[in-house]
Amino acid sequence: MSDKLIIFDTTLRDGEQSPGASMTRDEKLRIARQLERLKVDVIEAGFAASSNGDFECVKAIAESVRDSTICSLARANDRDIARAAEALKPAQSGRLHLFLATSALHMEKKLRMTPDQVFEQARLSVRFARNLMADIEFSPEDGYRSDPDFLCRVLEAVIAEGATTINVPDTVGYAIPELYGNFIKDLRSRVPNSDKAVWSVHCHNDLGMAVANSLAGVKIGGARQVECTINGLGERAGNCSLEEIVMAVKTRKDYFGLELGIDAKHILATSRMVSQTTGFVVQPNKAVVGANAFAHASGIHQDGVLKARDTYEIMRAEDVGWSANKIVLGKLSGRNAFKQRLQELGVAIQSEADINQAFARFKDLADRKSEIFDEDILALVSDECVSHGNEQYGFISLSQHSETGERPHASVVFSVEGLEVRGQSDGNGPVDASLKAIESHVKSGAEMVLYSVNAISGSTESQGEVTVRLQNSGRVVNGVGADPDIVVASAKAYLSALNKLHSKADRVAAQG
Ligand code: KIV
Ligand code: ZN
Repeated sequence: MSDKLIIFDTTLRDGEQSPGASMTRDEKLRIARQLERLKVDVIEAGFAASSNGDFECVKAIAESVRDSTICSLARANDRDIARAAEALKPAQSGRLHLFLATSALHMEKKLRMTPDQVFEQARLSVRFARNLMADIEFSPEDGYRSDPDFLCRVLEAVIAEGATTINVPDTVGYAIPELYGNFIKDLRSRVPNSDKAVWSVHCHNDLGMAVANSLAGVKIGGARQVECTINGLGERAGNCSLEEIVMAVKTRKDYFGLELGIDAKHILATSRMVSQTTGFVVQPNKAVVGANAFAHASGIHQDGVLKARDTYEIMRAEDVGWSANKIVLGKLSGRNAFKQRLQELGVAIQSEADINQAFARFKDLADRKSEIFDEDILALVSDECVSHGNEQYGFISLSQHSETGERPHASVVFSVEGLEVRGQSDGNGPVDASLKAIESHVKSGAEMVLYSVNAISGSTESQGEVTVRLQNSGRVVNGVGADPDIVVASAKAYLSALNKLHSKADRVAAQG
């Protein structure tokens, strides 16, 4: 058995299914390039047949990323598979990922198919896919809750048709580590041609055990691929977190004995990019990438770490990218230094005009803030992408008045399809007044389901990063905005969310 563990990242597909985490094509491209820098083996770029937008994203990523295999999800039917294969055509290395539910519950209630029909569809769909591409992954959806005898029958058949990876999802996060590990082990020993495929684990985090279950699938079950997402992003309680899996396998190499291709020093930048793009804030005590992950507050711990670091640290913060947490640029930094730092952070801005625009914004920020951190640059560039493209709404300026004992009032100037408009309103506070001022003009009718402010680099001089989550007609979107003035950041975030509400096309969901 190989001693290489394949890291399959599905942030852009399963992660994006998280309500409000939908990303634009440019945002996905930027994250895909960062995943390539991180040396992820396989990037699941989307679900090409679910919408034209997803098709274009998968295609753009397949055109631009060279070093990772690019994968598209597809339901096990000819139309979806052909569409996914079409999107993957430009890929240096492409993979089709077919899925079909195999649990009694899903077959009967969701698919309304008999087990024999499911068996036949699984077999024929892999046969069809294999004629289009050599690298085929098959996932029996809700695999962990499927009847093992039936599952063995299906898996043997799809391997015989040419599936090269077998992925066993715990779709609803029901598994327990020991049981899941043994489940994979039993499947591998019972399926006669199991050695012809790489076995993969895909765990959801509903009971908080996605990482533990995945590791058990590797250690007990012998799986050699883990499907995961940055920051554990994903529907409900999320997916298995990439950074935790990677650091567990690296830190406990004595136990797992496995090799990884991942370049861990890019973990933190990737985590931040995903968090800032989606508006899903990373909790401070999150393993590996949380703000406190390497902070020692207690005197005894601090003293111990100063004397010998391994008294209380099992990983080195700089190995996952924390050393970048220092002043990187300032007011006197030039355009070249700015451009180089963007490249080091994995931000690929396409045109010189875009760089000039981002640099002008950087200079503006440096005038107001003496120390510029990597976090500021990432926020500034993600703000650049969400607020200054060809969107419906764009922020221009804001003025507001608030005084103790008086009701605050705001006036916001913004563009609607390139035309300048002004909205005015009072409100409970300056943020409330500003967002009501925008809404008084836009009349979106959207309900705000989340508003959060985060100080990007931890001081009052810091930029505030605001996330606004809006819900309208069953759709949920996140908008993110950053500025040293949190009222301005809030207005930008609100306009960014309105842009997403305005532009996002309907999709087919992967889990029925
Ligand atoms: O959780 C799941 O079952 C999935 C499949 C589509 C692989 O994401
Ligand atoms: Zn999933």
